[in-house]
Amino acid sequence: MNIINEDKENILNTYKRFPVVIKEGHGSTFVDYDGKEYIDFSSGIGTNSFGACDKEWVEAVCNQAKTIQHTSNLYYTEPQVKLAKLLCEKTGMKKVFFANSGAETNECAIKTARKYSFDKYGMGRSKIITLKNSFHGRTIATLSATGQDVFHQYFYPFVGDFAYVTANDIEELNQNIDNTTCAIMIETVQGEGGVNALDPEYIKYIDKVCKEKDLVFIVDEVQTGNGRTGYLYSYMEYNVNPDVVTTAKGLAGGLPLGAILFSEKVSKTLGYGEHGTTFGGNPICCSAGYSVLKRLNQDLFDHVLECRKIVEEKLTGKPGIKSISGKGMMVGIELNDNIKAIDVVNKCIEKGLIVLTAKTKVRLLPPLNISTKELNKGLDIILESVGELL
Ligand SMILES: Cc1ncc(COP(=O)(O)O)c(C=O)c1O
Repeated sequence: MNIINEDKENILNTYKRFPVVIKEGHGSTFVDYDGKEYIDFSSGIGTNSFGACDKEWVEAVCNQAKTIQHTSNLYYTEPQVKLAKLLCEKTGMKKVFFANSGAETNECAIKTARKYSFDKYGMGRSKIITLKNSFHGRTIATLSATGQDVFHQYFYPFVGDFAYVTANDIEELNQNIDNTTCAIMIETVQGEGGVNALDPEYIKYIDKVCKEKDLVFIVDEVQTGNGRTGYLYSYMEYNVNPDVVTTAKGLAGGLPLGAILFSEKVSKTLGYGEHGTTFGGNPICCSAGYSVLKRLNQDLFDHVLECRKIVEEKLTGKPGIKSISGKGMMVGIELNDNIKAIDVVNKCIEKGLIVLTAKTKVRLLPPLNISTKELNKGLDIILESVGELL
C-alpha cells in the first residue's frame, strides 16, 4: 500500500504532512518503512514525555488493556483515582476532572470561570481576558479564546465576551479589567504563538489582580506542563496560585488524556450534570498518565534544565541564528530573516532529525529524558542545516 497516496485519498486534508511515514519508535528515535532513523525533537508535539514506547509506560498500558479498557464515568475506577490523587498531591490543587484533549480542558476551564462568576455575581460578568498570540484549541469556544485573528475566520459566529490583550503589558490588562470580567487565561510560554515566555512580573501581577478582584486565574499548561519547562507545571516557577490549571499533551505520554485541576475556590463550581464526557479518564489513559506523572521528579527536571543549557550554549550566536526562546525543553529558534523555518525542517528531515515550527521559528520539544548525546547530535544537524541555508 502506498500510505502517502492512500492518506491523501481517504483522510481529510487538514494537515500539511511532511513526506515521512513513521513505522515505529524507541526512545528518542523514530524509524520509517525504509529503516531510516530520525532523532525525534518533537515528542509528537510534546506528548511522548519519555519518548517512544518506554518500557514502564508500555507495561502500564498493556496491563490495563488486559484488565479493563473502559467502564464509562458512571462507575468508579482505580486508575482515575490514583492519577487524580497524585495530581492533587503534587500540585496542592483540590479536585481534578479528566478530559481527552487540550481543547476540552480549556472548554471546561471557560465553563468553570463563567459559572463561578454567575453563581456569585449573577449575569453580565462573563468576559474572559486572554492574550494576543495565544493558542487554546480548535473547538469554537477555544478558538474564540485564542488571541489570533487568523483563527477567527469562516466559522462564525464565535463565542462572545473574550478580550485579547498584549502580553506583558500591565497597563493594557488593567484597562480591560472591569465589572464584566470573570477570568484571565494565559500560557506562561506561548507555544503555537512562537515559543514566547511571558515576563515573570506579568505572571505575578495577573495572580495578584485575580485575587484582588475575585477573577478566575486560568493557566493553560497544555504544552508547558508535565515537566516540559523544567518544573512540574510551568506556573510553579513563579510562586503563583492559579484557580484552574489545564493540562493534556504530555500527561499520558502519548495517549489522549487531559486534566483540569481546580483550586479550593472553584472546586465546587461544577456539580452533577454540569460537565461530562464519555472517554475522559479512560482507565488505559489514566494508567499511562500515572506511569508518567510518578516519574516527573526533580532529577528529571534537573535533566531538562541541563539540556536547556546545552541548547543555549550550542546554538546562541551561531551563523543564521538570531536568538533562542522558551523555557526548558520547549525551545524556539529565531532565524535570520532570509532563512525560512520550514526549509530548516525539511533539511533536518533529510538528515534524520524531526523538528517542528512555531510561526517563523524552528521549535524543539524533545522527549524529556533524551540523552545529552542524542541532543548534541540533533543540534549538530540543526547547525548544519541552517549553515546550508545561509
Ligand atoms: C497551549 C495549548 N492549549 C491548547 C491546545 C489544544 O490541545 P489539543 O490539540 O490537545 O486539543 C494546544 C495544542 O497545541 C496548546 O498548545
